[in-house]
Amino acid sequence: MKSLFSLACIALFLAAPPSPALAGGDGMALLKSECSACHNLTGPAPTTLAELWARKGPDLFYAGNKYRPEWLEQWLQNPRRIRPAGMFYGNHIKPGPEHDLIDKSTLKPHPRLGPADARAVTAALMTLKAKSELIRPGEYKPGRISIAMGDLMFDKFRGCLACHEIEPGYGGLSGPEVYTVARRLQADYLISYMRNPQAWDPRIFMPNKHLKERDLQKFVHYFRALSEEDAP
Ligand code: HEC
Ligand code: HEC
Repeated sequence: MKSLFSLACIALFLAAPPSPALAGGDGMALLKSECSACHNLTGPAPTTLAELWARKGPDLFYAGNKYRPEWLEQWLQNPRRIRPAGMFYGNHIKPGPEHDLIDKSTLKPHPRLGPADARAVTAALMTLKAKSELIRPGEYKPGRISIAMGDLMFDKFRGCLACHEIEPGYGGLSGPEVYTVARRLQADYLISYMRNPQAWDPRIFMPNKHLKERDLQKFVHYFRALSEEDAP
């Protein structure tokens, strides 16, 4: 019994997380060696359409202003698709009998990290804070909107559904799914991005709809409601 206990202690000790400073340092080295071939870690964002279409993964040089760290750490260990037709849908569709179909064979699974690396990489990503001037901390004020009203705004009033899925298999394919976005991204980032997508990513084809401040808040309420519905 006693020896079992000490064995468990040794195991716990071996599995202990590295110190935060060390983790951050290791994480940055991993980012550079394993991730920089597909992700831009230093900026700037693409300045031409050719660069935009050739982009192999989302820009990460403002990751600390964009992602929720608890989501990052989980997703890096268990990545699943966020953009149904990849980074640039034009590169991943093929003609179908009635409309274009996603050519799944061209979409590769994302590299997967173990728990310690995911923690270290997350810590490193959260230090990348370009474009902080676009974030107004605490701007999002939690509130509620019914899914029905949110659907109406997202589809009929603003035409966002043409590019974004609001549930698996329902909605446009050229943008990221929005039913998980509130779990993935920081609320103040969501507001800032929807206010002016091109301030973050100058050549991105999401239109600036000049949404009112009130509507920016309502869209985040809506995404939060969708994320709750989608939660396992
Ligand atoms: C072969 C290219 C490639 C490599 C290597 C790669 N990624 Fe990615 N990454 C992608 C693509 C493509 C996506 C978009 C996936 C999607 O939308 O389904 C992505 C998405 C992500 C996302 C989600 C971002 C968002 O805004 O949706 C994170 C975080 C991420 N990668 C981190 C990493 C890290 C950390 C590494 C290194 C350990 C890495 N990636 C290595 C191609 C790559
Ligand atoms: C013409 C297509 C298009 C339309 C219409 C559109 N979007 Fe987007 N949206 C995009 C693209 C493309 C991105 C960014 C893709 C990326 O980062 O890979 C994006 C990103 C977003 C994001 C950030 C998501 C993420 O995971 O990074 C949100 C939130 C968003 N859009 C909300 C909206 C809302 C609200 C509307 C309607 C007012 C709208 N979009 C209309 C194409 C569109």
